[in-house]
Amino acid sequence: MKVTVVGAGAVGASCAEYIAIKNFASEVVVLDIKEGFAEGKAMDLMQTASLNGFDTKITGVTNDYSKTAGSDVAIITSGIPRKPGMTREELIGINAGIVKTVSSNLLEHSPNVILIVVSNPMDTMTYLVHKTTGLPKNRIIGMGGALDSARFKYRLAEALEAPISDVDGMVIGGHSDTGMVPLTAHATRNSIKVSEFLSEERLAQVSEDTKVGGATLTKLLGTSAWYAPGAAVSSMVQAIACDQKKMFPCSAFLEGEYGLNDICIGVPVLLGKNGIEKIVKIDLAEAEKAKMKESAEGVRKTNSLLTL
Ligand code: 2OP
Repeated sequence: MKVTVVGAGAVGASCAEYIAIKNFASEVVVLDIKEGFAEGKAMDLMQTASLNGFDTKITGVTNDYSKTAGSDVAIITSGIPRKPGMTREELIGINAGIVKTVSSNLLEHSPNVILIVVSNPMDTMTYLVHKTTGLPKNRIIGMGGALDSARFKYRLAEALEAPISDVDGMVIGGHSDTGMVPLTAHATRNSIKVSEFLSEERLAQVSEDTKVGGATLTKLLGTSAWYAPGAAVSSMVQAIACDQKKMFPCSAFLEGEYGLNDICIGVPVLLGKNGIEKIVKIDLAEAEKAKMKESAEGVRKTNSLLTL
C-alpha cells in the first residue's frame, strides 16, 4: 500500500511515523512546500527503521506531486495550526485555499485515492473536498472523532482511575470546542456503563474536558497537538489498508443519516478497503439528538463561510 502525507509539520510527520511503525504500508511519501523539509523529516524517520523495526519506505518530496502518483490513501494535514486562544474555525480563510489545491493535485496523480482530511476546521474542509472534487462520498473521510474519542477515553480512565484498556467511549458531532457530542450514556468500563461508577457531575466534567482537549493542549504547547492526531490517522489508515471494517467516528458526507443532509460531520462509520464502507446508525438519547442537531448548525455556519 502506498500512502501520501501532505504536510511535513508535526501532525504530518507523526502520521508518517505511526503508519511506518505499524508496518502495514510499503511506502509513505511525505510532501511539503518548504524546500527540503519533507526530505529531512523522511530521512530522520528512515533512520529509526532499524531501531523501530519497520520496513516501510518513507520518502520526502518538496511540492512534487508526481512522486505521490498511485497513492491508495492520502492524508491532508497541510495548512496552519491554531495558536492558543484561537478556534479551529478561524483557520478557514487560509486553510480552505490550501486544502482545495492539495486535494486537486493529489487526485491528478492518484485518481483512485482515498482522502483523509485533517486540516482544520476539519468538518468544513472535508465538506470542501466533497464539493470541489466530486469524489464518491466513501472516499472522503474527515479525521476528528477518532482523536476526540481517544481524548474522551483518556478523561474517562482518569476519572475512573482505570487503565485506558478497560474503557470504551465514542465522540460524534463536529470536531470543534463546542460541537463535540461525547456519548457518555454509551461509555463503558469493561462493558459496564460508566454511570455506574461516576456521578452525573463528574461525567459532565469529563465531557467538557474532552471537548476542549485540543484547546487545552494548544494552550500548553503553543500550537496544535500532534501525537494523538497522528496516532488517530494511522489507526484509520490501517483499517483501510487491512480492510478491517473497523468502527471509528469520522466526518462523513450525510444524505439523511441522523436526520442530516448536505453536511460532513462526525458519525460512526466502518472503515475498510473502500474507505467508508458503511455509516452506522445508533440510537441516540433525545439529549444526544438535540446536541447533534446543534452541532450540525455550528458546522453549517462555518461551511457558509466557504466560497465554493
Ligand atoms: C486537535 O484537536 C489538531 O484539531 C486537532 O488537536
